[in-house]
Amino acid sequence: MKTVTLSTLQAMKEQNEKISVLTCYDATFAKIANDAGVDALLVGDTLGMVLQGYDSTLPVTTEQMAYHTACVKRGNTHSFIISDMSFMSYATPEDALKNAGLLMQAGAHMVKLEGDLWLSETIQKLTQNGVPVCAHIGLTPQSVNVIGGFKVQGKSDEQANNILNAAKQLEKSGAAMLLIECVPSDLATKISQSVTIPVIGIGAGAGTDAQVLVLHDMLGLNNRPAKFVRNFMGGQPSIQAAIKAYVDAVKDGSFPSVVHQYS
Ligand code: KIV
Repeated sequence: MKTVTLSTLQAMKEQNEKISVLTCYDATFAKIANDAGVDALLVGDTLGMVLQGYDSTLPVTTEQMAYHTACVKRGNTHSFIISDMSFMSYATPEDALKNAGLLMQAGAHMVKLEGDLWLSETIQKLTQNGVPVCAHIGLTPQSVNVIGGFKVQGKSDEQANNILNAAKQLEKSGAAMLLIECVPSDLATKISQSVTIPVIGIGAGAGTDAQVLVLHDMLGLNNRPAKFVRNFMGGQPSIQAAIKAYVDAVKDGSFPSVVHQYS
């Protein structure tokens, strides 16, 4: 299979080809996901919840993100690797530069940061230094204590406008990708159509350029899955077949369906 780069993903957006993204934290699953045809692997800080058992992503450190990125890198043959910057590791542009460097040296092709307009300067600095950035907007789990829970964002007109403006501004600042989490699907669709860079959605409906799910959720290992999760393991003979079913469903637009979206 051909190596997936940022240019590949950009071309997929331009050709209206849906992009499949899946979280991944180790070499074995990286290989399985590669063989199942996943375009991009996200070494998410959800590892704090699904691997480490915490109730949020806040305890995860840069060292842990670098460790898991290196594990994924070793199992990866051709997928694009995005790594999350951990809570507080990009509080200043200087911190961001130092910590993003560690993730890139561990094997990431891009880093992901959560926030809105305040990320602009950091995105510029990282991009100038050779680090492509995905900006995570909408529900930003590292801010769970500010938001007051894992809640759908962008429900009021004012909130929706703020998120749309942030998306446009972050693209102008140099973000090469956006990830939008838990927003009404019409807002996510509007954002995807308003920017030229690929937009990954989770809990954001079918109108985004790409979809991501947490590996453990789509394998049915979470006994309290969110509304936007589908268990792809049901009826499948192997984990690779389940991941392939996810890739196929993203590509043909059958996932997410209306039951997985917020309106
Ligand atoms: O950390 C993560 O896995 C994520 C997903 C929820 C998209 O950011």
